[in-house]
Amino acid sequence: MRENGHAVDDKIPKDNSVPQLPTANGWNGTIIGPKDSYALMRDCNASSRLTAQHYLWKDLLGFLVHPDIDTRATDLRVADVATGNGIWLHDFARGKPPSVDLHGFDTSLDQVGPKQWLPANIHMHIWDMFENVPDEFVGYFDIVHVRLITVVVKNNDPRPILANLNRLLKPGGYLQWDEVDTIGCSIKTVPGISACNLNALFSQLKGHDTWYGLGMARFWTHVYMSTWKEFAESALKTPEASRRLEHNAMIETLNGAAIIVPKLVWVTKKIDTTD
Ligand SMILES: C[S@@+](CC[C@H](N)C(=O)[O-])C[C@H]1O[C@@H](n2cnc3c(N)ncnc32)[C@H](O)[C@@H]1O
Repeated sequence: MRENGHAVDDKIPKDNSVPQLPTANGWNGTIIGPKDSYALMRDCNASSRLTAQHYLWKDLLGFLVHPDIDTRATDLRVADVATGNGIWLHDFARGKPPSVDLHGFDTSLDQVGPKQWLPANIHMHIWDMFENVPDEFVGYFDIVHVRLITVVVKNNDPRPILANLNRLLKPGGYLQWDEVDTIGCSIKTVPGISACNLNALFSQLKGHDTWYGLGMARFWTHVYMSTWKEFAESALKTPEASRRLEHNAMIETLNGAAIIVPKLVWVTKKIDTTD
């Protein structure tokens, strides 16, 4: 098996010839530094992973917004919390009238790109979902969407997050939470192929079988492998051990092993007490 080009560190110039820039774009966003406790990365690879992942999600679910939620109103107000690179909001905006009011929230806007290149009806805000909801957004939204925030939940308790997401909603508004089922994930291989490295890599997440077919499994697996890459340095005892495990696991995926992670979508409606 050929070397698969994962030794990124080797390509970083050692002589500091590339000047360091303090912020990523014109949002006055957060500076990537020791205070940023987010477990994953916010660079172009991380953003590409979010984009690939978004289209795999859409392909798998067949919708962005669950069909039970009516999105036809021309004055619809939609929030995407923990928006990442904003790809979900971007995709939602397409084909909608400019009167639809769209807001992305995240602790960092380093991945959302320049303000000037966003559609005029998409607004991005720095907001930590554990902090108080800004007054202007209390009871403001018809739809609040979140996706892939398991790494954000603290103390195994999503209730503080849910309370804040609920506060963003109008009475009668909908919350949609798309998530990976990290308990129900498993490894699949073609017969005779070993996956001990892939197993070790995802050992914390192993579970039982799932309901979707294996046809798309390798595309998803490559996305999961990229996720591993983003936090691998801190996941094992040494970066070398982590890289070795990733390298071996990647070979196993090329030979016919895949990580299977079921996807979950919850839809809830805020009770309208004014009826
Ligand atoms: C795995 S990414 C998912 C991005 C996006 N939802 C998607 O599905 O493409 C998680 C995002 O949560 C954001 N995040 C982490 N902690 C947060 C917090 N306390 N409040 C708001 N966003 C947070 C991160 O900055 C990151 O952009």
